[in-house]
Parts: sequence; C-alpha cells; structure tokens
Amino acid sequence: MMQHLTIVDHPLVQHKLSLMRDQSTPTAVFRQLLREIAHLLAYEVTRGLPMTTKTVETPLQSMEAPVLDGRKLALVSILRAGNGLLDGMLDLIPSARVGFVGLYRDEDTLKPVQYYCKLPGEIDERVVIAVDPMLATGNSSAAAIDLIKKHGAKNIRFLCLLAAPEGVARMKEAHPDVPVVTAALDERLNELGYIVPGLGDAGDRMFGTK
Ligand code: URA
Repeated sequence: MMQHLTIVDHPLVQHKLSLMRDQSTPTAVFRQLLREIAHLLAYEVTRGLPMTTKTVETPLQSMEAPVLDGRKLALVSILRAGNGLLDGMLDLIPSARVGFVGLYRDEDTLKPVQYYCKLPGEIDERVVIAVDPMLATGNSSAAAIDLIKKHGAKNIRFLCLLAAPEGVARMKEAHPDVPVVTAALDERLNELGYIVPGLGDAGDRMFGTK
C-alpha cells in the first residue's frame, strides 16, 4: 500500500521543475520538460504494481521472468492540462488504455460539472492512474475521482506535478484510498486559486493560450 502523499524529490525532477516554474521558459520547452518529468514520475507512480511471471526463453535457457499482472493500466487525463502528463506517461507505458474526463466550474454554484467522460472498459479490473498537473483546491480532482469511481474503478492513483496543501487535504478527505504522487508540495493557494509560488496556469503555459 502506498502512503497517501509521495513527493518525488529526485534531483532530475526538481531541476526540471525549476526550469518549468521560470516564466521566461517558452511553451515548447515547457511542454518538453513536462514530458520528461512525466517519465520520471511514471516510474514512481507505478511502483509496487502487482507482478506475475511468465516463461521466457533467453538465448541460454528458460526462466520465469517478472511481468506486470492483470489488465493493462488505465491512464485517465483530466482535461485539458492532464494531456501534458499523459503524453510522457504513454512514452513509458505505450500499451496503457486511456480515458479522458472533462470538468468545468459552474460560475453560479462554483461546483465542477462534467462535460466529457470516456473511460476504458473493464475499469473495475484495472489500476487507474488519473493525471492532472496542478492539484490546487482539489475540487475538480476530487470530482474527477468521484466520476472514475462511479464507473467502477476500485484501484486508483493520482499523479500531479505540483500540489497545494489545501488540495492534498481535500483529496485525503474525499478519497483517502487514492495515493497522490507529486513533484512538489508548494506553500499555499492565492485568492484566485493559483498555487504559490507555482508556475502559473499549466494549460496556458503548455498550449500557449495566454
Ligand atoms: N491550475 C493551474 O494551472 N495553476 C494553478 O496554479 C492552479 C490551478
């Protein structure tokens, strides 16, 4: 069982994250860095996955070699910024199944509303890794996990790049069974819901929409 919060303090992750935080880092470089960090985070978020063995003939003899057990992993991107982490995850786990969840915030109720949801089949038998770079208030992440659970998923992990203490607390309260893996835990949220010091709007920075 993974602990509820894992901070990946590996030097390569921390160095690349610092480059991403720099406001002068251009869009293309930002996206490439996110992809590279996703490789390193993928290594951590898949730690301890169930294994089995299969018989493999090496050029010398046959052996019982370790392989992942169970159905292929499901990666679920929380739109739209999740797609940046998703690309890097898929580099490392190309046969993973992929789902998408889209939520927007209703201006009146301030509650997350689903506008898109497409998940792989047999989700109840898969390990699901939900990805969203910024765990800020945690409201949309918690809602996305609610939705994934409603479709039957029982074994979920959440991967982000940056987390605020408020978001981690919200996720722990709503989904204590879902381990959170992040590259850093920042200081706080500001009054607009941005992570401070953070890196700004992750979607805008990776897609150049500002
Ligand atoms: N989403 C972002 O993209 N950035 C933040 O700082 C908070 C939420």
